[in-house]
Amino acid sequence: MKFTIVGAGSSYTPELLDEMIVRRESLPIDELVLYDIDSHRLEVMEGFCKRYSAKRDFPIKIRSTTDIDDALYGAAFVDTQIRVGGNKQRVKDEKIPLKYGLIGQETTGAGGMMKAFRTIPVMLDVARHMEKSSPDGWLINYTNPAGLVTEAVKRYTNANIAGFCSGGIFPKMWAKRSMGIDYNRVQYDYVGLNHLNFISHITIDGRPVTEKEFETLAETNDDVGADIQKLLGCLTSPYLQYYYKTGQRVEELKAKSQTRGEYVQDLEKIVFAGYADENNADIPKELYKRGGGGYSEVAMNFVNAVYNNVDTEMVVNVQNKGAVPFLPDDGVVEINCLVNKRGMAPIHKSYIPAPCWGLISEVKNYEMLAVEAAVEGNVTKMKQALLAHPLVREYSVVEKLVPDLLKGSKEFLPQF
Ligand code: G6P
Ligand code: MN
Repeated sequence: MKFTIVGAGSSYTPELLDEMIVRRESLPIDELVLYDIDSHRLEVMEGFCKRYSAKRDFPIKIRSTTDIDDALYGAAFVDTQIRVGGNKQRVKDEKIPLKYGLIGQETTGAGGMMKAFRTIPVMLDVARHMEKSSPDGWLINYTNPAGLVTEAVKRYTNANIAGFCSGGIFPKMWAKRSMGIDYNRVQYDYVGLNHLNFISHITIDGRPVTEKEFETLAETNDDVGADIQKLLGCLTSPYLQYYYKTGQRVEELKAKSQTRGEYVQDLEKIVFAGYADENNADIPKELYKRGGGGYSEVAMNFVNAVYNNVDTEMVVNVQNKGAVPFLPDDGVVEINCLVNKRGMAPIHKSYIPAPCWGLISEVKNYEMLAVEAAVEGNVTKMKQALLAHPLVREYSVVEKLVPDLLKGSKEFLPQF
């Protein structure tokens, strides 16, 4: 079975390989193709992955290519993890909104929209290549902003896409970290949009969590904090900190000497030095300071569910189709789904916490306009999207912000 990674120069690539090794008995992946446009990073990653698998006696054929058709041809699964313009562009997404007193973040708010604008055309191109080269293959997307990317690919192509975020297993991670409880004992309803999720009906071994356990989980999600989550009556994605603590977060972001993107750039240098060291065949520990850890486990859970036809409940970005009653059917939501060989189906919710209806609707409204703006290169829709976004909204700010944002990403926006 051929498995392809698009954006294989990403420092997360070895984690995927590691999951393949862990699951060697159940997943016969015998060819791993690494694709990237950056031939230097690709070469480093190919060398490291070969050393990594050799050290673990994993008999897999690993090769790299910069030819997209070669990479995708006949692939059963294609994992996409690209960052158009790299972390250099991420830093601009973080800094430009802050000048206007807005949250500067790589996926949330105006910065996230610019990431979407740079990324969506490239992802549509990958999906269209897949329609021809691997029409039965599955595109497993981790490219951010994951919700908008999935929405664009669903709306404009026929590729089979499953959109993921490591956030779907965060409540399991919190239970493990705070109470030592294994992942498979914890279940919950997970509803909303990528990086805008609300988690309710949490059970451990099938029984509802006690008040004390809920509090422990809420405390562990400390970016948002226990008080807010207790008041809402549910856990939330950590990204809700930007909506419920906006003023405080803007001040903190302004006061920092480095943005997260700048910090990640420094970290990447150390991680890549580890990958490039010909005597090293272990993942550098600095990788675990990145926020995306755990995603490879989710990706391979999906591969297992589909390939081995094992009914598996997973949080996936999928078209709503009535699961969240107040959202459009074709809008993408991030929600529990049942996954198996036939694909995935959202599990309809009987309960969605009332305090989040408005926020989810507004951000979905923004996302749908932003996807259209990204595809059409439409400045009017870009402005409408920002007017719809609860973290931007103010007209005079939008008029000033838009030219600044477009200038910041200019070389990566051929559609504008
Ligand atoms: C979380 C999010 C990812 C995001 C990551 C950022 O895991 O779910 O979508 O990419 O954090 O991590 P970073 O180390 O790049 O700041
Ligand atoms: Mn994510």
